[in-house]
Amino acid sequence: MHKRNRWFVSIGLLYGLLGGLVALVYLTAPGFIPGDVPRIHGHIMLLGFVVMMIYGVALHVLPRFSGQSLYSERMANWQLYLSNAGLPIMIAGWLLMLNWLVLAGGVLAYSGIVLFAINIILTVKPTGPWR
Ligand code: HEM
Ligand code: HEM
Repeated sequence: MHKRNRWFVSIGLLYGLLGGLVALVYLTAPGFIPGDVPRIHGHIMLLGFVVMMIYGVALHVLPRFSGQSLYSERMANWQLYLSNAGLPIMIAGWLLMLNWLVLAGGVLAYSGIVLFAINIILTVKPTGPWR
Protein backbone atom coordinates (compact mmCIF):
# COMPACT_ATOMS: atom_id res chain seq x y z
CA MET A 1 0.00 0.00 0.00
CA HIS A 2 1.29 3.47 -0.93
CA LYS A 3 2.54 5.49 2.05
CA ARG A 4 0.16 8.33 1.23
CA ASN A 5 -2.84 5.98 1.30
CA ARG A 6 -1.73 4.66 4.69
CA TRP A 7 -1.66 8.28 5.86
CA PHE A 8 -5.22 8.85 4.58
CA VAL A 9 -6.54 5.74 6.37
CA SER A 10 -4.66 6.49 9.63
CA ILE A 11 -5.65 10.16 9.66
CA GLY A 12 -9.27 9.13 8.99
CA LEU A 13 -9.22 6.86 12.04
CA LEU A 14 -7.73 9.63 14.19
CA TYR A 15 -10.48 12.01 13.04
CA GLY A 16 -13.09 9.36 13.94
CA LEU A 17 -11.68 9.15 17.46
CA LEU A 18 -11.47 12.95 17.74
CA GLY A 19 -15.00 13.51 16.40
CA GLY A 20 -16.50 11.05 18.88
CA LEU A 21 -14.58 12.69 21.72
CA VAL A 22 -15.79 16.16 20.69
CA ALA A 23 -19.42 14.93 20.73
CA LEU A 24 -19.02 13.27 24.14
CA VAL A 25 -17.38 16.38 25.64
CA TYR A 26 -20.16 18.51 24.11
CA LEU A 27 -22.82 16.29 25.70
CA THR A 28 -21.03 16.11 29.06
CA ALA A 29 -20.03 19.75 29.40
CA PRO A 30 -21.94 21.99 26.97
CA GLY A 31 -20.10 25.28 26.55
CA PHE A 32 -16.65 23.80 27.32
CA ILE A 33 -15.74 23.80 23.61
CA PRO A 34 -16.46 27.23 22.09
CA GLY A 35 -18.07 27.93 18.73
CA ASP A 36 -20.42 25.81 16.64
CA VAL A 37 -19.68 22.39 18.16
CA PRO A 38 -22.24 20.25 16.24
CA ARG A 39 -20.83 21.65 12.99
CA ILE A 40 -17.28 20.87 14.13
CA HIS A 41 -18.24 17.35 15.20
CA GLY A 42 -20.23 16.72 11.99
CA HIS A 43 -17.40 17.77 9.69
CA ILE A 44 -14.69 15.98 11.68
CA MET A 45 -16.81 12.83 11.29
CA LEU A 46 -17.78 13.35 7.64
CA LEU A 47 -14.85 15.21 6.01
CA GLY A 48 -12.35 13.74 8.48
CA PHE A 49 -13.34 10.15 9.28
CA VAL A 50 -15.59 9.13 6.37
CA VAL A 51 -14.04 11.09 3.49
CA MET A 52 -10.36 10.50 4.44
CA MET A 53 -11.12 6.78 4.78
CA ILE A 54 -12.81 6.79 1.36
CA TYR A 55 -9.80 8.66 -0.11
CA GLY A 56 -7.29 6.12 1.27
CA VAL A 57 -9.28 3.02 0.34
CA ALA A 58 -10.35 4.32 -3.08
CA LEU A 59 -6.86 5.44 -4.11
CA HIS A 60 -5.61 1.95 -3.28
CA VAL A 61 -8.46 -0.16 -4.62
CA LEU A 62 -9.89 1.63 -7.67
CA PRO A 63 -6.72 1.46 -9.80
CA ARG A 64 -6.57 -2.28 -9.04
CA PHE A 65 -10.26 -2.80 -9.86
CA SER A 66 -9.84 -0.94 -13.14
CA GLY A 67 -6.61 -2.76 -14.01
CA GLN A 68 -4.73 0.51 -14.56
CA SER A 69 -2.29 2.50 -12.47
CA LEU A 70 -3.46 5.65 -10.72
CA TYR A 71 -3.51 8.52 -13.26
CA SER A 72 -1.39 10.83 -11.08
CA GLU A 73 0.42 10.10 -7.81
CA ARG A 74 1.37 13.77 -7.57
CA MET A 75 -2.27 14.84 -7.79
CA ALA A 76 -3.14 12.37 -4.99
CA ASN A 77 -0.30 13.76 -2.83
CA TRP A 78 -1.70 17.27 -3.27
CA GLN A 79 -5.13 15.88 -2.37
CA LEU A 80 -3.61 14.72 0.96
CA TYR A 81 -2.04 18.13 1.64
CA LEU A 82 -5.10 20.17 0.64
CA SER A 83 -7.67 18.09 2.51
CA ASN A 84 -5.54 18.02 5.66
CA ALA A 85 -4.89 21.75 5.54
CA GLY A 86 -8.53 22.50 4.75
CA LEU A 87 -10.37 20.65 7.52
CA PRO A 88 -8.30 22.03 10.46
CA ILE A 89 -8.78 25.55 9.07
CA MET A 90 -12.56 24.94 8.80
CA ILE A 91 -12.56 23.67 12.40
CA ALA A 92 -10.61 26.76 13.54
CA GLY A 93 -13.19 28.91 11.72
CA TRP A 94 -16.09 27.25 13.52
CA LEU A 95 -14.27 27.42 16.88
CA LEU A 96 -13.67 31.17 16.45
CA MET A 97 -16.97 31.73 14.59
CA LEU A 98 -15.13 33.36 11.68
CA ASN A 99 -17.00 32.68 8.47
CA TRP A 100 -14.11 33.78 6.23
CA LEU A 101 -11.83 31.23 7.91
CA VAL A 102 -14.37 28.43 7.33
CA LEU A 103 -14.55 29.59 3.71
CA ALA A 104 -10.74 29.58 3.33
CA GLY A 105 -10.51 26.04 4.75
CA GLY A 106 -13.51 25.01 2.67
CA VAL A 107 -11.83 26.13 -0.56
CA LEU A 108 -8.79 23.96 0.29
CA ALA A 109 -10.90 20.93 1.30
CA TYR A 110 -13.00 21.34 -1.83
CA SER A 111 -9.87 21.54 -4.00
CA GLY A 112 -8.89 18.14 -2.54
CA ILE A 113 -12.25 16.71 -3.65
CA VAL A 114 -11.79 18.20 -7.14
CA LEU A 115 -8.32 16.65 -7.54
CA PHE A 116 -9.67 13.30 -6.31
CA ALA A 117 -12.55 13.42 -8.80
CA ILE A 118 -10.29 14.26 -11.77
CA ASN A 119 -7.70 11.64 -10.78
CA ILE A 120 -10.23 8.84 -10.30
CA ILE A 121 -12.21 9.63 -13.45
CA LEU A 122 -9.01 9.52 -15.50
CA THR A 123 -8.01 6.27 -13.76
CA VAL A 124 -11.24 4.31 -14.25
CA LYS A 125 -12.14 5.62 -17.71
CA PRO A 126 -12.56 2.72 -20.09
CA THR A 127 -9.81 1.96 -22.56
CA GLY A 128 -10.57 0.05 -25.73
CA PRO A 129 -14.09 -1.09 -26.64
CA TRP A 130 -16.99 -0.82 -24.13
CA ARG A 131 -17.74 -4.10 -22.41
C1 HEM B 1 -19.14 8.58 18.29
C2 HEM B 1 -20.43 8.65 18.50
C3 HEM B 1 -21.21 9.91 18.21
C4 HEM B 1 -21.81 10.72 19.13
C5 HEM B 1 -21.78 10.59 20.63
C6 HEM B 1 -22.46 11.79 18.37
C7 HEM B 1 -23.18 12.83 18.95
C8 HEM B 1 -23.68 13.89 18.27
C9 HEM B 1 -24.29 15.06 18.88
C10 HEM B 1 -24.49 15.25 20.38
C11 HEM B 1 -24.66 15.90 17.89
C12 HEM B 1 -25.29 17.27 18.05
C13 HEM B 1 -26.75 17.20 18.08
C14 HEM B 1 -27.27 18.61 18.30
O1 HEM B 1 -27.37 19.37 17.34
O2 HEM B 1 -27.53 18.94 19.46
C15 HEM B 1 -24.29 15.29 16.63
C16 HEM B 1 -24.50 15.87 15.41
C17 HEM B 1 -24.03 15.33 14.22
N1 HEM B 1 -23.33 14.15 14.08
FE1 HEM B 1 -22.77 12.88 15.55
N2 HEM B 1 -22.26 11.58 17.04
C18 HEM B 1 -21.50 10.45 16.88
C19 HEM B 1 -21.06 9.91 15.69
C20 HEM B 1 -21.26 10.46 14.45
C21 HEM B 1 -20.79 9.88 13.19
C22 HEM B 1 -20.06 8.55 13.07
C23 HEM B 1 -21.16 10.75 12.21
C24 HEM B 1 -20.91 10.70 10.74
C25 HEM B 1 -20.10 9.86 10.14
C26 HEM B 1 -21.85 11.87 12.83
C27 HEM B 1 -22.36 12.94 12.16
C28 HEM B 1 -23.05 13.97 12.74
C29 HEM B 1 -23.58 15.11 11.99
C30 HEM B 1 -23.48 15.33 10.49
C31 HEM B 1 -24.20 15.96 12.91
C32 HEM B 1 -24.92 17.27 12.62
C33 HEM B 1 -23.93 18.38 12.58
C34 HEM B 1 -24.57 19.69 12.28
O3 HEM B 1 -25.67 19.97 12.78
O4 HEM B 1 -23.95 20.49 11.56
N3 HEM B 1 -21.88 11.66 14.18
N4 HEM B 1 -23.69 14.07 16.89
C1 HEM C 1 -15.83 21.13 0.81
C2 HEM C 1 -15.96 20.98 2.06
C3 HEM C 1 -17.17 21.44 2.85
C4 HEM C 1 -17.50 22.69 3.23
C5 HEM C 1 -16.77 23.98 2.90
C6 HEM C 1 -18.70 22.60 4.03
C7 HEM C 1 -19.33 23.68 4.64
C8 HEM C 1 -20.48 23.63 5.37
C9 HEM C 1 -21.14 24.75 5.98
C10 HEM C 1 -20.66 26.20 5.90
C11 HEM C 1 -22.25 24.29 6.62
C12 HEM C 1 -23.23 25.10 7.44
C13 HEM C 1 -24.39 25.57 6.61
C14 HEM C 1 -25.31 26.41 7.51
O1 HEM C 1 -24.86 27.42 8.01
O2 HEM C 1 -26.46 25.99 7.73
C15 HEM C 1 -22.29 22.86 6.43
C16 HEM C 1 -23.26 22.03 6.95
C17 HEM C 1 -23.28 20.67 6.76
N1 HEM C 1 -22.37 19.91 6.01
FE1 HEM C 1 -20.71 20.59 5.14
N2 HEM C 1 -19.08 21.30 4.12
C18 HEM C 1 -18.18 20.56 3.39
C19 HEM C 1 -18.20 19.20 3.21
C20 HEM C 1 -19.18 18.35 3.69
C21 HEM C 1 -19.22 16.94 3.43
C22 HEM C 1 -18.19 16.18 2.59
C23 HEM C 1 -20.31 16.46 4.07
C24 HEM C 1 -20.87 15.08 4.13
C25 HEM C 1 -20.24 13.99 3.68
C26 HEM C 1 -20.97 17.59 4.73
C27 HEM C 1 -22.13 17.53 5.49
C28 HEM C 1 -22.75 18.60 6.08
C29 HEM C 1 -23.94 18.48 6.92
C30 HEM C 1 -24.68 17.19 7.24
C31 HEM C 1 -24.26 19.78 7.34
C32 HEM C 1 -25.39 20.18 8.26
C33 HEM C 1 -26.60 20.53 7.46
C34 HEM C 1 -27.74 20.95 8.37
O3 HEM C 1 -27.55 21.79 9.25
O4 HEM C 1 -28.83 20.44 8.18
N3 HEM C 1 -20.24 18.72 4.48
N4 HEM C 1 -21.20 22.49 5.66
